[in-house]
Formats: sequence, C-alpha cells, structure tokens
Amino acid sequence: MSFKVLITFKFFQNWIEKIKEHAEVITWNEERAPDKKWIIDNIKDVDGLLCTLINKIDKEIIDSAKKLKVISTYSVGYDHIDVKYAKSKNIKIGYTPEVLTETTADLIFGLLLAVSRRIVEGDKLIREGKWNIPWQPDFLLGYDVYGKTLGIIGMGRIGKAVARRAKGFNMRIIYNSRTPKNDVEAEFVTLDQLLKEADFVVVTVDLNESTYHLINEERLRLMKPTSFLINASRGKVVDENALIKALKEKWIAGAAVDVFENEPISSNHPLVRFNNVVLTPHIGSATIETRNKMAEIAVNNLLNGLLGKKLIYEV
Ligand code: DGY
Repeated sequence: MSFKVLITFKFFQNWIEKIKEHAEVITWNEERAPDKKWIIDNIKDVDGLLCTLINKIDKEIIDSAKKLKVISTYSVGYDHIDVKYAKSKNIKIGYTPEVLTETTADLIFGLLLAVSRRIVEGDKLIREGKWNIPWQPDFLLGYDVYGKTLGIIGMGRIGKAVARRAKGFNMRIIYNSRTPKNDVEAEFVTLDQLLKEADFVVVTVDLNESTYHLINEERLRLMKPTSFLINASRGKVVDENALIKALKEKWIAGAAVDVFENEPISSNHPLVRFNNVVLTPHIGSATIETRNKMAEIAVNNLLNGLLGKKLIYEV
C-alpha cells in the first residue's frame, strides 16, 4: 500500500477500516493521550495524520514528519495545531466545522437553562435524600430565561445557532464579534457593553492569540451580580482563576462550563465547590449523530489530502 497514516487518539473502528482501504494505519488505542515521544517516533514516514484536540501538534512534531501531506483534525477547533508552521511546510490541514454547530448550540442552551433554573442542584438534592420539605414559595429559586438579555461573544456559526434558539425564548440578543454581521437579528455592541447588560454571557469564540483569557478579571467585574457566564468554546478563553474569584466574591450569579484550561479536571478542581456552577466534561459535540458526521468529514479530509484532492473543509 502506498500511503501511511498515523492516528493519535482512540478512533472509531469502522472509520479506521475505511482508512485501511487506502493506507497502512498506525493507531493509538488508549483513552489517554499519547505522549509526544510516541507521536514523534511514529510520525517520521507517514503521509497523513489524523489527530484531535488532545494532541498538541507543534513545530517539533511537524519537523519529525518527513513526508506529511495532510493533517486532519477530528474537531472544529485547531488551536492544538501550529497551523502557520504546518502551512509553511505545504501541509494541508482539514477540520470538521458545520456538522457540530447545532449540537453544540443545543448544549450551550442546555447549560444556560440548567444553571439559571438550578436543574443540576435539584437533581443532586433528590439523589442525596435532601428533598425533605414540601413545596415552598422560596425553594430553589433561579432566574427567568424568557425575555432576558443574551450576550453572545463571537457571532460565528455556533453564535448564530445559539441566537436562533434564543428567539424562541423571546430574548433580546446582543453580540460582539470582530465585525458586525448583516445576517443576524441581533444588536452589535462593544464587549464592555455586552458584559454590563447581558443576563447570560455566552462565549463562542475560538481560541487564538487574541482570545486567550479574553474573559479576565477586569471583564468579569463588568458583569451583573445576577448574570451568568456560559463557556463551551475553549477553556483558555476564560481566565479560570479570575472566574473562581468572581464566583467566590459573587460578582456574578453563576457559571456553566464545558471546557477548562487543563482537561480533564478532577473533583478537587476549585470550580467543583460551587453549587451555582454547572460543569460538563467537554461534550459540546458529543452526540452519536454528530460524532459520526465529524468522523466522515475527518476521514474524507484525510483521504483527499493523501490523494491530492481538495479537502472538504480546509483551514
Ligand atoms: C471541537 O470540535 O473543537 C470541539 O471542542 C469538540 O467537538
């Protein structure tokens, strides 16, 4: 067989078989991420790399790959790849946008509802045998979502999908992004204004040099004590220590977080201590349908790259 492919995460067997129709495959089979040495040792003579967000593909790895034509990442985010360097070496980079947009927006809306209506707290209370009083007027009170102001930071595909859902909740939608968009029914505002006015601040930007710790102490201080922060983009967009301080000192009402600065987090992580925080383990795109569609695109990006064809989605 003329091509060789390296897969650096535990991937679906049926899709590995598909790649095997075209290439010899070396694959990582454990749930933890391989260390850098394993990737370097195995990437030397491969033509294609199939990776995901748990694999940091830096200059050293790219330099070790002498024949690499294509890097296909099984993710929409590509902050784990040194894109500029790979491109300077004429390596194509494929990714999986669009197919996960609605799924991720569903999770964001779910987090928003869960944290504002204290759904997880209520569930926990029952499971722990602590629902021992009858219905009370002031029991487990949350905040309304319907008719409130939603602030979306980053009005890309996912931001727009969140906005569409918010329409059904009769929300006023304000947003901030690099440039105003003419295809959304929402009001473009400055980031400061958004933070000051929104009842729900939803972060949907990708991680890059300009968005690293975009939500820092100074910006969290602008939020209202009755407002919530929801992040399902990348952990490093929010300064986690600043968020912990904001929660401790009650600058905000709560947060819902799907992504963290260093994943996975343990049960000792400071965010776990807050009842007004809903935590999920980076599952924005985690549905059977979407993960399968992502696999189809990632595999086709990879194969097209090997065969010198146009990628389905190229960075
Ligand atoms: C991505 O694709 O980048 C998400 O974080 C996981 O689906």
